[in-house]
Amino acid sequence: RKKRVTVNDNIVTKPESKINTDGDSVNVDGNAVGYHEYEYFMLNKPAGVVSATDDNTCTTVIDLIKTNNRKDLFPVGRLDKDTTGLMIITDDGNFSHDILSPKKHVKKEYEVTLDIPLTNDMVEGLEKGVKLNDGECKSAILEITGTYTGKVTLKEGRYHQIKRMFGCYKAKVIELNRICIGNLYLPNDLRLGEIRELSESELDLIKEKNIKVGLAINPDTDLSTIY
Ligand code: URA
Repeated sequence: RKKRVTVNDNIVTKPESKINTDGDSVNVDGNAVGYHEYEYFMLNKPAGVVSATDDNTCTTVIDLIKTNNRKDLFPVGRLDKDTTGLMIITDDGNFSHDILSPKKHVKKEYEVTLDIPLTNDMVEGLEKGVKLNDGECKSAILEITGTYTGKVTLKEGRYHQIKRMFGCYKAKVIELNRICIGNLYLPNDLRLGEIRELSESELDLIKEKNIKVGLAINPDTDLSTIY
């Protein structure tokens, strides 16, 4: 009503005016206004924060988004309260379903630290599919990176899955950090508790099918060692 808004260079004063989100150019005080149907954020989740939209006692991953002006954002899947690392937050239900559905083969990669040394028995068992009380897990990849440390790649996300899988070997998970979803690695410069919008190319990396597991390209990888 103050004549500050233009649509395709025409001043628009009626709040009920409709715009075509594909072609119209909208300006406020001469500055272009962008429109996204959905929002996508990535968070480096700290320990102690819960993967929920609201909670009476704990800080939620949604509380960490300071620029949140949408009410319907939610985390894509869950990480335990004590798990750290890559988490996607969005208001796009179809996207979330595609990332979480085991049928879509989007992999999730975790760094894990145990209270006992990792063994080849664990590597073989995870590859075959560990039997849990809610059924047999799909084949998972365990790479031993140190005496007590490893990397686990999953294509499903059951409740406490990694903790329960190692529980079958009488091992306790001391630390768990998710470093990758699809082919998107947690960027080195995204510190714990930090959150930022995903770019189009990062979104594409998440959605990429991981036909060749293990060939996801970590930003730190020297490409000449792959090709
Ligand atoms: N597996 C777990 O046990 N916990 C997580 O947070 C994620 C995977």
